[in-house]
Amino acid sequence: MKKLLSTLMLLVTLATQAAEVPLLQNAMARKTTSLNGPWHYIVDVQEEGYYDYRMNPTRWGFFRNAKPQRPEDLIEYDFDKAATMQIPGDWNTQDERLFFYEGTVWFKKSFNYGKPKGRVLLYFGAANYETYVWVNGQEVCHHIGGFTPFNADVTDQLREGENVVIVKVDNKRKAEAVPTQIFDWWNYGGITRDVFLVEVPDVYIEHFSMKLQKADAKAKQRDINVSVKLNKPIKGRILTLKIPELKVSLPLMTNDEGRDVLQVNVPAKKLQLWSPDNPKRYHVELLLVDPAGPVVSDIVTDSIGFRTVEARGKQILLNGQPIFLKGISIHEEKAHGGGRANSTADAHELLSWAKELGCNFVRLAHYPHNEYAVREAERMGIMVWSEIPCYWTIAWKNPGTYANAERQLTDMIRRDENRANIIIWSIANETPHSAERDNFLSRLAHHSRSLDTSRLISMAMEVTGASNYKNRLQDNMHQYVDVVSFNQYIGWYRDVNDAPKMEWEIPYDKPAIVSEFGGGAKYGLHGEKNQRWTEEFQENLYIENTAMLDKIEGLCGTTPWILKDFRSPRRVLDGIQDYYNRKGLFSDNGEKKKAFYVLKQWYEKK
Ligand code: GCU
Repeated sequence: MKKLLSTLMLLVTLATQAAEVPLLQNAMARKTTSLNGPWHYIVDVQEEGYYDYRMNPTRWGFFRNAKPQRPEDLIEYDFDKAATMQIPGDWNTQDERLFFYEGTVWFKKSFNYGKPKGRVLLYFGAANYETYVWVNGQEVCHHIGGFTPFNADVTDQLREGENVVIVKVDNKRKAEAVPTQIFDWWNYGGITRDVFLVEVPDVYIEHFSMKLQKADAKAKQRDINVSVKLNKPIKGRILTLKIPELKVSLPLMTNDEGRDVLQVNVPAKKLQLWSPDNPKRYHVELLLVDPAGPVVSDIVTDSIGFRTVEARGKQILLNGQPIFLKGISIHEEKAHGGGRANSTADAHELLSWAKELGCNFVRLAHYPHNEYAVREAERMGIMVWSEIPCYWTIAWKNPGTYANAERQLTDMIRRDENRANIIIWSIANETPHSAERDNFLSRLAHHSRSLDTSRLISMAMEVTGASNYKNRLQDNMHQYVDVVSFNQYIGWYRDVNDAPKMEWEIPYDKPAIVSEFGGGAKYGLHGEKNQRWTEEFQENLYIENTAMLDKIEGLCGTTPWILKDFRSPRRVLDGIQDYYNRKGLFSDNGEKKKAFYVLKQWYEKK
């Protein structure tokens, strides 16, 4: 009996995995049907809808969306009688009973659909953390990770007319997860980003990348390396790449892996390079020609900027020119207490605050933010540090944890590899030194390079060698990254008012970024500069820290912690924190604290 059950379970899993397909890049630019809006939800603390009282996966699961057929039928749930909440959106800020909730919530959405011409993918921008999806009662995918997109081919599950999608989301924290059990941000749960159906032909363009090749400043011609991949390993399919503004129209033909590469040569004086001062993007089209005749069977479009970024000695060069990264760290949280940010408008508000600070760079901490935010930053001329949540004490020895982290890294890069403004991929934050950690992270660094050599790799290290005002950065991982970045909290967690006396040694011939520094202040609380939590204390900390940073040889940027106060379950000081980390330069309502002006002035001089 047990053997039969496990074989059955294996068959179900295999069937399920069959529906999840590699990530479709730039899905939003295709013909889509949005499933955003109100979804019914059921809070299921003990996963009654998934396990029976013997913790076996139950066959009476909520995914069946069953209705009583006869009066005596016993069905103990009814989505259609349940409340609704807005998707995309976290549950914590939409139902006050769920403010602190960590567990399972079920979601149900009905939608009408016609007869699809080709394939139909069901696409999630993200759902935190572990997600199961059923369409018309059939499981179509199981995804782990709260901050990257995933999609499943649901063509065979769809029917003409009314369809039902049921989603189980569980945001319980686990030691083997990524992130692990403890992290200093709110564990917003739910379907936190867009959900939509995308129609694609049987053979479609899964992803493509365009990267400007480095060249010296006097080069007469610039070369753009293009690579294309179809969803199927089909040889001999013809594609056309078009960049109308550059009068480029070039053919590609796939090899037996359904891939092709091409180099586009453009006169240098014709090509405007993307930069914060000129965030130029070009309209690009990639057309897949139908073998049966000269018609286009698939087309993807995008707005792509071209730039190069490299590390040379202790400098970071953008388009061959040294640049100082005037940054700020940001969490993906709406302003004004609104929970997970998930739209262009949310991003624009936060990024405009960063612009007010004089920033040309943002660290999107500590997980990949939504695609709207990255694209809006690109449009606004803001460079980006994008990171996967290998945060603090990850289970380095656990192969499943590594596979999970590598998957998140792959999906982060696949989704955003054509974004000119992303200059750094970060693989970790404040991780304890050990051989297991080095092994785990160095594999991630290699993996990142195998997918993308056009960007820099970094991670936020910690300063462990500090004594007598001498600070020496020491981390084995320096050999695997391009930029050595570190967090330091002089003036807050250590050495209050000692920043002016501090000496720094960064014994690596690589660019250095101070990826975090800062201190807390409650907006509107005033007092002496040695009075914790006052704006004056934070202001003074910024004055002393920026002066200290000016003395660090080879410093090429910083992303102070943090743009705005953000929610954290680790911040429990009543009357001051109230579950907010108060290290923002803005309050959660966008009020500027005194330290804002210190950093703004410092950046004006940079
Ligand atoms: C850490 C960590 C952040 C955290 C910050 C703080 O360095 O990286 O996620 O919020 O410090 O303590 O405020």
